[in-house]
Amino acid sequence: MTDLDLQKVTIPYIQEKKEKKKKITALTAYDFPNAKILDRSGIDIILVGDSLGMVVLGYENTIPVTMEEMIHHTKAVVRGTERALVVGDMPYFSFHLSIEESVFNASRFIKEAGAKAVKIEGASPKRLMLIENLVEAEIPVMGHVGLTPQSICHFGKFKVKGKIKEEAEKIMKDAQELEAAGVFAVILECIPMELSKLITEKLQIPTIGIGAGPYCDGQILVFHDLTGYSNGYLPKFVKKYVNLHEILNNAVSAYVKDVENGSFPDDSHSYHLKDKKILDGLKPAKKE
Ligand code: KIV
Repeated sequence: MTDLDLQKVTIPYIQEKKEKKKKITALTAYDFPNAKILDRSGIDIILVGDSLGMVVLGYENTIPVTMEEMIHHTKAVVRGTERALVVGDMPYFSFHLSIEESVFNASRFIKEAGAKAVKIEGASPKRLMLIENLVEAEIPVMGHVGLTPQSICHFGKFKVKGKIKEEAEKIMKDAQELEAAGVFAVILECIPMELSKLITEKLQIPTIGIGAGPYCDGQILVFHDLTGYSNGYLPKFVKKYVNLHEILNNAVSAYVKDVENGSFPDDSHSYHLKDKKILDGLKPAKKE
């Protein structure tokens, strides 16, 4: 391990990794044990993503996720994290309000939940103005371009962005404008690897890819996808390292079987009285 590996993760540390051409590692987490696993595995960035809505809360997409849900889960993740940089994802319609209300919502992630930065999808002119205001209010911001899941009503369905010239130019412009507005890093989601390579070379700030190929400065995935905790559809860009859903299913089925056939709990999982004579005092007196 180098000094860079042992250090508590800060925004300058993330920037330094880009400069030293060391890959930045990131994953999502939504609760205390999940955060502990990631933190102990040496992950750099833990994103409390609004993917929470789909993988933990069972919503169809990320649109219904509320500020209260995000704050509740971010607090749990912060409690489980010692080293990684925790980033809170601003849910749909928490930053589409007035600048004052949007800055206030972002400040809750930092002040109330203990995150060190927020993530915001998109790069419209209003979004860029908000980001400038957030940075001015000492709230570090991570950008997010390409496939932005909160735009599902516009997109109709989730698909790769930037395959055609106009889209590729727009994503490049968005990333550069986000950098100029002051974001400390930018997520590139579901875009061609040739495009993410070019963006990564042009920007001074780190790019973190998800479905954006190998040339980004770092990579992020959804924890429930890479561990197979969710057993639904997985996009091509996910590498599943373990099938947690099947492992847990087998464990629970074995428990059900053991309880039903009386083999659990056995003596090794039970307690005993200190002295069997205590039982005599507990037995009801015999009727005369
Ligand atoms: O919400 C989320 O988990 C995300 C990542 C997939 C980048 O935005």
